[in-house]
Amino acid sequence: MAMISNEEINNIRANANIVDIVSSYIPLTQRGKNYIGVCPFHDDHSPSMSVSPEKQIYKCFACGATGNVFTFVSEYENVSFIEGVNIVANKIGMTLSQQVYKSNISNEHKEDYEIMELTEKYFQNNLKTTAGKEALKYLHDRGISDEIIKDFGIGLSIDDNNSLISLLTKKNYDIKKLIELGLANDIDHDTFTRRITFPLWDKDGHITGFSGRIYRGEKDISKYMNTKETTIFKKGETLYNYHNAKDIAKREKYIIVVEGFMDAIRIAENGIKNVIALQGTALTTNQIDLLKKLRVKVILCLDNDNAGLIATLNNGEELVKNNIEVNVIRLTGEKDPDEYILAKGIDAFKENIKTPMTFFDFKLNYLKQGKDLNKAEELSEYINAVISNLSKTNDPILKEVTIKKLSEEYGISYDILKNKLNDLNKEEVEIIPPSIKKDNTKRTAYSISADKILYFMMNGGIFINEYQQKVGYFPEEKYRNIANEIVYYYEKEGKISIADFITYASDKSNINSEVLRIVNEDINDEITIENMDEYIDALTKKITKDEIKELKEQMKKELDVDKKMKIAAQIAELKKGSV
Ligand code: CTP
Ligand code: MN
Repeated sequence: MAMISNEEINNIRANANIVDIVSSYIPLTQRGKNYIGVCPFHDDHSPSMSVSPEKQIYKCFACGATGNVFTFVSEYENVSFIEGVNIVANKIGMTLSQQVYKSNISNEHKEDYEIMELTEKYFQNNLKTTAGKEALKYLHDRGISDEIIKDFGIGLSIDDNNSLISLLTKKNYDIKKLIELGLANDIDHDTFTRRITFPLWDKDGHITGFSGRIYRGEKDISKYMNTKETTIFKKGETLYNYHNAKDIAKREKYIIVVEGFMDAIRIAENGIKNVIALQGTALTTNQIDLLKKLRVKVILCLDNDNAGLIATLNNGEELVKNNIEVNVIRLTGEKDPDEYILAKGIDAFKENIKTPMTFFDFKLNYLKQGKDLNKAEELSEYINAVISNLSKTNDPILKEVTIKKLSEEYGISYDILKNKLNDLNKEEVEIIPPSIKKDNTKRTAYSISADKILYFMMNGGIFINEYQQKVGYFPEEKYRNIANEIVYYYEKEGKISIADFITYASDKSNINSEVLRIVNEDINDEITIENMDEYIDALTKKITKDEIKELKEQMKKELDVDKKMKIAAQIAELKKGSV
């Protein structure tokens, strides 16, 4: 990335009023302190976007979009953050000290991408030669047309041990570079040989690696082989076909997620282009961030086997936690979408897309599996599990409908079910400070307080001091990372504002989406030490409560009377402090 300092970016931000810039894209009307407008990031009908001139940030109440002037422009124009900075600078008549390259192609990686492109061309060409006959037949037999081959850049690495190395070194590329990019194992061994090759792209469409598939029925070697982690290939940040799918997904308002790239290729070639593949692994935080950015529904359509079922459950759970709407398709008969479409046709597949299950319904089915609901114990287990899941959703209608259904289906009193659900919800929300009036039933007082404390900290040094004196440390890594970054930023810069901290966090993938989520929670809270203290109190009470619980457990197990007494004294001390 062009190395433009945070200081320079902050300076541009200080000169660019977010209200002026945003209103050059969408009409804004003043409403009290803030401005409101129709949110451009989801299908908005009533104005849901609020822009704060005081904090220089925007947020959408409906879809959760949040950020500063640069995130607005880069999201709206669909460009990288730094390109967004460049556009804003131009709008206000400033110029950056360094040129910004389109789509983040930095000088640093330009040659790398060039080499990857050349490699792809070479592999593609191999398929057209005599050496490629058998591989081409394999592809045709699998119903992969020449057109698909071209569209997805499918190629072949031939039997020769170092044909790629000799091609590229003749073009004066350094062998060290080829090893570094994962194309060569050593000075005279290509990484990929005897495999059909699929280029892998990053989110912007640069080729960053390859996957190679065996095609001669070889035994004892793995079916697919992927480029190792390199400076440009990060498996955990790669979603196969994302660069092709993202714009269409935004238009269609959903994206299909499948396991293998043959599945994605098959679906895309049948005209449904908003599809991506996981490449067989569980979604990482970075991949979830990429999906979140689209702000569309995710339809999980994983393999038909047990592994696919469990993966649907786990990935779905993670997506839901990240406030992404999840639907599920479980195909029947064939092993995966590729084989399903080959056997039953695309129209049968399309029918499935029209009527996916909600993730909640999928989960209910899953919970039922293998249980004999005629047996009292198993029925009770099932119903308890359903209610426990229900307490985690924050859709009051879903809660009501589900309880009614359960009550009718199994002849259990509605009130018993309702009370049970209320009890679970109560446990979750027990010590929310009175000022939290929003419907936050699914979140605990602790997590809300932690969010708020971090939010206050982004507003200035006095709030950071307050944190350092009264909290000092979050036991959870998630909160701790953000707190540490805020403290670090403040120490380095000598000042802090939400809008500038958003810039700082924008390229830190471990905190970025959490920071935006926290900022989105409430931009209207009055930023005073008194308000912050209210949340600190709630947080420390909860911490004390946990400590007491832990000590009580210890006391139960302790046999030595003296030690027991000591623990009791500790508990008494904690209790005194917490009232
Ligand atoms: N995969 C991998 N390494 C393997 C096996 C699988 O990286 N040894 C990844 C590939 O990205 C593959 C995905 O996991 O696309 C799903 O694996 P699987 O279901 O076994 O493959 P299919 O997609 O069905 O591939 P094919 O139809 O070519 O057999
Ligand atoms: Mn398959």
